[in-house]
Amino acid sequence: MKHSNDTFIYRELYNNLKEDILSFKYDSNEKLPSKREMAQNLNVSVNSVKTAYEQLLEEGYIYTQERKGYFIEPLEKLIVEPQVTNTVTTSTHQQEQQYRYSFSHMSTDITQFPVDTWTKLMKQVFKHYSHRLSAIPDLKGPIELRQAIAKLVSYKRGIQCNAQQIVIASGTNVLLKQIMDVMDDDSKIAVENPGYFRFRDILQKTKRTTLPINLDDKGISMSAIKSGKPDLVIVTPSHQFPMGTIMPVSRRIDLLNWLTKTNGYVIEDDYDSEFKYNTDNIPSLYSFDKSDRVIYLGTFSKTLMPGLRLSYMVLPTSLVTEFEHINNNVIPDFSMINALTLYLMIKDGHYERYIKKMSHFYAAKRAKLIEQLKETFQHLIKIHDTNAGLHFIVEVKTDYSYDDIEARAVSHEIELYTINRFTVEPVHDQSAFKTLIIGFSQLKIEVIPEAVNILRKVLID
Ligand SMILES: Cc1ncc(COP(=O)(O)O)c(C=O)c1O
Repeated sequence: MKHSNDTFIYRELYNNLKEDILSFKYDSNEKLPSKREMAQNLNVSVNSVKTAYEQLLEEGYIYTQERKGYFIEPLEKLIVEPQVTNTVTTSTHQQEQQYRYSFSHMSTDITQFPVDTWTKLMKQVFKHYSHRLSAIPDLKGPIELRQAIAKLVSYKRGIQCNAQQIVIASGTNVLLKQIMDVMDDDSKIAVENPGYFRFRDILQKTKRTTLPINLDDKGISMSAIKSGKPDLVIVTPSHQFPMGTIMPVSRRIDLLNWLTKTNGYVIEDDYDSEFKYNTDNIPSLYSFDKSDRVIYLGTFSKTLMPGLRLSYMVLPTSLVTEFEHINNNVIPDFSMINALTLYLMIKDGHYERYIKKMSHFYAAKRAKLIEQLKETFQHLIKIHDTNAGLHFIVEVKTDYSYDDIEARAVSHEIELYTINRFTVEPVHDQSAFKTLIIGFSQLKIEVIPEAVNILRKVLID
């Protein structure tokens, strides 16, 4: 009791003295009463005064002179900017919006995630890898995980690479920034339009010249690439984001041949290739490449969850030394605990089993959603249901504009994205059909009829 009382008195004394010093009630270099005098004046213990003086001394409000006592440190008045309000206004998109149903393409369903297995494996990491957790992680990620990924991409994506080419990071956005570090400052970068706007945003922030390239029925337009002459092209060949086109082999060969002739590079963003329905996996662009031109990006955000923040890239061999050199002093940003837990999950076969399970799960949701959309919208909908990934494209006949649709979706508490989010210029489309990106991972199968009914209210009623 005595202790807490002393602590309270010391705190109060310290705060009062600090305020008095900051409001210049004391002169610079003025001598403070001795500890004993102060204790007597205030009727408190010498110990409380001593602790308060020592704290003020530690923070630089007062100084001591041997045998003379404590003095006030000369301080300048802190400038107070009258315009500063100290209140933060959050933009609406950062506020947590509550939705009844989500047609988002960004999320995954984690209701089936093997939480117990993950927790058990994480405990094993603490037990067997404590020396790794207590040290700064390897720049490119734990070698065990990189070796496991090298094996995984070999048999899943036909990618023959060495673990030294693999880099782990906390997201493909981070990886793109790292790639920009090894590219020349004046390099021109071609991106798909419509495409992944987060990449466009990063490129603009790194002050790169970005060439938005329109799509044709085979994916990114080669004639536009040939006339734009970019140094680097970013594509999503296995499932164009967001339109869903699968780049046929003819376009892949055209693109790789052009890059080989011009010494350019291509980033293959393979964000959701693990999920294919009724057909086999589409081979990666990297697996066609014989000239060391492809930088492959993979992520665990779709197969596991975006909240994990673990993604990777496979660098062409020609860029590995440059990457290591540039990042010599960098501490990587991924979570080592998660990276090692993921390694155990892959090694013990849990990862493969989970993907298999989720593929069936997503296939069922997707089939139900397509059936429901056809039934509810009839001739008012065209569904472009490429057998891949966690979203597909629909065109819906509606009198509403894209802005109307977005606003109406919010008011009906539906998370819904239109093509407008992904094009460089907003689409002011007068045509009767509007293009929407329909994600299905978050929808529970039993709510699909109701969610689609609300979607109809948003778009038609
Ligand atoms: C087109 C595209 N690329 C990449 C990613 C993966 O991003 P990250 O690995 O940073 O979560 C996503 C995520 O949803 C995506 O939509």
